[in-house]
Amino acid sequence: MLITAGPTHEPIDAVRYLANRSSGRMGIALAAAARKAGWEVTLLLGPVHVAPPEDVQVIRFSSTADLEALLDAHFPPCDVLVMAAAVADYRPRGVSQGKLARGEQKLMLELEPTPDLVAKCAARRRPHQRVVGFALEEASILDERAAEKLRRKKLDALVANPLATMGASDVTATVYLPDGRRSSPAKTDAGETGMDKNAFARWLIDWIGAEFREG
Ligand code: CTP
Repeated sequence: MLITAGPTHEPIDAVRYLANRSSGRMGIALAAAARKAGWEVTLLLGPVHVAPPEDVQVIRFSSTADLEALLDAHFPPCDVLVMAAAVADYRPRGVSQGKLARGEQKLMLELEPTPDLVAKCAARRRPHQRVVGFALEEASILDERAAEKLRRKKLDALVANPLATMGASDVTATVYLPDGRRSSPAKTDAGETGMDKNAFARWLIDWIGAEFREG
């Protein structure tokens, strides 16, 4: 199982970058749970300070371009890709040499869209490979956006979380499938405020094992 986790850092100049608030904890918890469940795990881990599990192969990335190169190398041999990384949607067009100096004029930063890495993997997967994406959406539009994202990216499953999940310790996630089915942990396990990320990770890894066993 190939798992990605954490934010990307998109360089602006030699010392600055654009980033997001992802802690990487969800992907790290998934890597630990998958390893415990007997999977051979490679974790592509972004610039975070949370320690990864010791018994999985960890390869670090910083930018979307780094992660793209790692996926080119590590996606082909995997059976399941779980794309929990919070990849930037835009990055500065061209990195300034050295350090941008302060001035009195307005500074315009030109951004370009990044490639959609999980969609790129899904588009070239072999028949037995499964691709699971993540989505973070406003709770009020989560349902509609999750279904649309699953179709657009041609994923085998999409784990949708409300915005409040980022940085929080608990998750209330729903897994969406292309045939219209949805799965989430039983209310008795999750409670009203959701589930601890480690418990959710164990549930999701069990779910992946059961759902994709055929492949
Ligand atoms: N993702 C990716 N490459 C990107 C951006 C996102 O692979 N350049 C992946 C994420 O890792 C995640 C999924 O796509 O598994 C959803 O990310 P999100 O940013 O919510 O999707 P977007 O397509 O960027 O949708 P939106 O229009 O909501 O920004």
